[in-house]
Amino acid sequence: MSVLTEDRPTAALDAALLLASGVSKSYRTPDHLGRLVLEGIDFALREGEVVAILGKSGSGKSTFLRILAGLIPPSGGRVDYRGRPVTGPVQGIAMVFQSFALFPWLTVLGNVELGLEALGVAAAERRRRAVEAIDVIGLDGFESAYPKELSGGMRQRVGFARALVVNPDILLLDEPFSALDVLTAETLRNDLIDLWSERRIPTKGIVIVSHNIAEAVEMADRIMVFSSDPGRISAEVPIALPRPRDWESAAFRQIVDHVYTLMTTLPGRDGRRGARPEPIGLGYRLPDAAVQQLSGLIERLTEPAYNGRADLPHLADEENLDVDDLFPLIEFMQILGWANVSGGDIELTPAGRAYAEADMLPRKQMFADALLKHVPLAAHIRRVLDERPGHRAPAARFLRELEDHLSEEEAERVLETVINWGRHAEIFAYDYDDEVLSLENF
Ligand SMILES: Nc1ncnc2c1ncn2[C@@H]1O[C@H](COP(=O)(O)OP(=O)(O)OP(=O)(O)O)[C@@H](O)[C@H]1O
Ligand SMILES: [Mg+2]
Repeated sequence: MSVLTEDRPTAALDAALLLASGVSKSYRTPDHLGRLVLEGIDFALREGEVVAILGKSGSGKSTFLRILAGLIPPSGGRVDYRGRPVTGPVQGIAMVFQSFALFPWLTVLGNVELGLEALGVAAAERRRRAVEAIDVIGLDGFESAYPKELSGGMRQRVGFARALVVNPDILLLDEPFSALDVLTAETLRNDLIDLWSERRIPTKGIVIVSHNIAEAVEMADRIMVFSSDPGRISAEVPIALPRPRDWESAAFRQIVDHVYTLMTTLPGRDGRRGARPEPIGLGYRLPDAAVQQLSGLIERLTEPAYNGRADLPHLADEENLDVDDLFPLIEFMQILGWANVSGGDIELTPAGRAYAEADMLPRKQMFADALLKHVPLAAHIRRVLDERPGHRAPAARFLRELEDHLSEEEAERVLETVINWGRHAEIFAYDYDDEVLSLENF
């Protein structure tokens, strides 16, 4: 049965349950300048809708969900729930997190009842509703079990029961299945879809953050793709497939391919061949990818099975790569100008093929050239070292620069990444003890 609202009047469809207008968010940084994480987000969750949010790690998905729930205030813009401004936690909105966040000293029943205690519901009523929620989510018989006695999947069922016990009007799900193994995730996901489509829960709208593209295509009526730095809605994909959705069907795969393309296309690299790439800035969040993995994947792609071109979902399957591993590699290749992505396919460029076919030494040179040409941070570090007397500079010098663009944690990660790449390319050296970059022995 479709979760869509064929049998609902159009007026109800148009009414936004949750409306975000021009939402932005800056987090405080040590230098007090603040860092913009979300910018100009306009979003409406309509009655009967499931919306999925996809985006790279750090694009602000969780932040946005917390703002929708009223758990943190936006820095700009506003959120309205059924026409009323959200200024703090809202009673009709419940959230489920990736980490189950259960209290180990409370039983299943105790953990679920907790959701109602804050609402001031009387003890007997709490008990009745908690038992009901536990039953609905399929944990019947486990009321008196403690979290440590439960499997991961069952713990997350408790997480869901705790959210459902308040009869939420809106459910906000932040990667609720990511910590579970594939089969457990599938079972729980299907149970949730059933509860929702058979209207066994009173919930009128769901927003789910996911890292899994197929999961989003299965569940959502609409997918929003977030871009990073700052997080904005970079694409919206409506999904009109009937339910239950068949992961193997051509229509399903086509949408998965399309979303892959949207997510692996760099800013300004719209997938058209010959499209002019937008240069990336100094504070660009370099992907977390290792050169060894990059070489491995490029070599695989030149093998006859692929012949320089691969369907991304297929590649992820075949090479047993999680999107969280695959996306950084794909982005790395695109940054270096070694691959293009379009129509859900990745294709090596002539430069990418040349790298794959070259021997060790010329490879190193090609990698160094590509880094200096396409990665401004690498070129910047090299330039500073060239200019400095003694050709040395402490890493902290670059870290401070990066912190103008990125959070402390991200700045460290990006610097570490570029140092690894730069050392591999031999465009500079790094002493881990002194934390000093140099051109020693060059
Ligand atoms: N309380 C905070 N203070 C400062 N910076 C924060 C805070 N919370 C998040 N950030 C930063 O804001 C950015 C967005 O974080 P957020 O957790 O919303 O991203 P996300 O898209 O959910 O990422 P992931 O996919 O890894 O869960 C990140 O760079 C993060 O480091
Ligand atoms: Mg998150």
